Amino acid sequence: MNITCSFTFILIFTLTLLSATSAVIYDSSGNKLLTGIPYYILPLLRGTGGGLTVTRATKDACPLNVTQEPFEVNNGVPFTFTPIVLDEQIIRGAYPISIEANVINPCSGSNIWKVTSTALKKHEENALLTSKKDKDKNKNKKKKDDDDDDDKNKDVANVETVTTGGEFNKPESCFQIVEDNLMPGLQSYQIQNCPFKCGPSSSGYTCYNIGVVTDADGNGYLARTDAVFPVVFTSSYGAFSTSAKVSTFSQLSAKVSALSLSVK
Ligand SMILES: *[C@@H]1O[C@H](CO)[C@@H](O)[C@H](O)[C@H]1NC(C)=O
Repeated sequence: MNITCSFTFILIFTLTLLSATSAVIYDSSGNKLLTGIPYYILPLLRGTGGGLTVTRATKDACPLNVTQEPFEVNNGVPFTFTPIVLDEQIIRGAYPISIEANVINPCSGSNIWKVTSTALKKHEENALLTSKKDKDKNKNKKKKDDDDDDDKNKDVANVETVTTGGEFNKPESCFQIVEDNLMPGLQSYQIQNCPFKCGPSSSGYTCYNIGVVTDADGNGYLARTDAVFPVVFTSSYGAFSTSAKVSTFSQLSAKVSALSLSVK
């Protein structure tokens, strides 16, 4: 056994130990969340919009933005989850995963989620887009802006939004699901982006909450936020047993993945 080989062995062994102890994630029917099965990602709290979806602002825009359906009645599109490194059929808590939109992709890249810096039109009441620091800065700048009105960047904020086009096992495409205890008795989860858990080692050990950030036009983008965004996962097939063959579902998946991109 050479060094690389034994290192891989130790890594797999450690991950196996880890996975034996980490929490299992459940869907809204109480079944284990499974690899490769399409689920709708819905907000736990009613009246906070619909499920997550993928959208494009114009006919040719790529990659797709991951956004929230404005209306609660809409589930959005299904997404699938795949563990990084371990080839497991179930998705575990705090374990690095790749998340993919289960739709026919009109763009050349992948359907894999990635975090990328995007300029969004500032929403004045939105604490995330207009942080206190920015507000203070704007206050001081106001007088200056009155004289000098060609500051084109004052109405946009750079937000780390989620789009498609990611690559498996890359820091910007590295997510995890953790349980949150927001409402006792209701099982819900927080999605996080944890760059350090995938690909080449990066500095820092920070995971960022993934939630919805609203721009000036009222569009809800999935992005890194300081807020929590508790979600539940609902199988897009309805309830099924975890003992069912995954291959059957993969075949079904291809048929079910009807394009539901909302072209604005
Ligand atoms: C995603 O959102 C950003 C910000 O609004 C926009 O500039 C970009 O064109 C959008 N991408 C698509 C594919 O619509």
